[in-house]
Amino acid sequence: MKLHADHLLDRLTRGGVLLTSKAGDTINTMTIGWGSISEYWGKNVLIVPVRKSRYTHDLLEESDNFTVSVPKYNEIAKKIGYCGANSGRDVDKFKECKFTAKPAKSVDTPIIGEAYLHYECRIIAKIDMNESHMSEAIIKNWYSGSDFHTLYFGEVVECYITD
Ligand SMILES: Cc1cc2nc3c(=O)[nH]c(=O)nc-3n(C[C@H](O)[C@H](O)[C@H](O)COP(=O)(O)O)c2cc1C
Repeated sequence: MKLHADHLLDRLTRGGVLLTSKAGDTINTMTIGWGSISEYWGKNVLIVPVRKSRYTHDLLEESDNFTVSVPKYNEIAKKIGYCGANSGRDVDKFKECKFTAKPAKSVDTPIIGEAYLHYECRIIAKIDMNESHMSEAIIKNWYSGSDFHTLYFGEVVECYITD
């Protein structure tokens, strides 16, 4: 499976990509700027870091899968900003951003039809970060109010380009 890792990592660090989750009938997406993709346990794995305060965290805790959608460069930059500044607890981001929730091939979380590179992932592990092995500088700069990330390890079951 071709993972398009260079492209994903480039977009993560330059603007962000969209992490979509679904629990029951609720679908939500949020912007992530961190993440990594590599081989773990003999599988292709995409790791996404989600702070406990995010609505996405609530949904992922009730789900076993997620999708990551990479938009074309700058095409939906404003929407990436919106999805990174507003919570699905308060707004329907799919509606506000006019995103199409397109059925995925292998998981029940949809992909975003307006994006062009898509990852469908099944959660195979997760780790709650905490201060015990973290440098003081990182705690001070990133976790002053606690609100640690959970790292979700998603096995990439599909990766493809649309358009
Ligand atoms: C460029 C950018 C990158 C972000 N990266 C992350 C991230 O990696 N992890 C995270 O938990 N929040 C990240 N955020 C913040 C969430 O996207 C933001 O809090 C969002 O409103 C959460 O939505 P939700 O409550 O619907 O899940 C980022 C925001 C922006 C603008």
